[in-house]
Amino acid sequence: MDDETNIVLIGFMGSGKTSVGTKLARIIDYEFMDTDFVIEQNYGTSISHIFSEKGEDAFRDMETQLLMRIAKTIRKTVIATGGGLPLRKINSDLLKKAGHVIFLKSSVETTLSRLKDDTSRPLLSGDNVSEKIECMINERLPIYQAVADDIVETDNFSFYEIIKEIEIIIDSLK
Ligand code: S3P
Repeated sequence: MDDETNIVLIGFMGSGKTSVGTKLARIIDYEFMDTDFVIEQNYGTSISHIFSEKGEDAFRDMETQLLMRIAKTIRKTVIATGGGLPLRKINSDLLKKAGHVIFLKSSVETTLSRLKDDTSRPLLSGDNVSEKIECMINERLPIYQAVADDIVETDNFSFYEIIKEIEIIIDSLK
């Protein structure tokens, strides 16, 4: 890895991409970017509103556009991605170009305990949230694993242990 390679965090909603990424960027002296945040800024509205007004497909298009820009122009940045971003094949390919991809892995149980009171994620609204999470994690797991350069388990690890683990990975790439 060269000195400017981005670190790209992927994983299911609630896996800690944004909180871990923010802190990690400070530690390794990188910029930080959150793809959901950038999309909200670019379109001047919330992710929930984009889903309800334009639909999920339009949101996925926005992710692809942003990822193309990241792969071309962004360096020395820790990038926290939306949980569904790797699902499109084109995005998986672009992720590999965008930087070193680290999958923050979390179980159904951990995810549920972290997200049980969340109201900001449109895909988890309504009833049967635990079934939805289980179904989506099982569907996405092979996709996350296929695109990841490294996998970091988050269940039963503290925030600081997770960051340490990622730092060890980054050091091993130098
Ligand atoms: C989504 C995850 C969300 C956000 C959108 C869709 C998904 O991001 O992009 O609600 O499909 O998993 P986080 O993973 O940051 O919650």
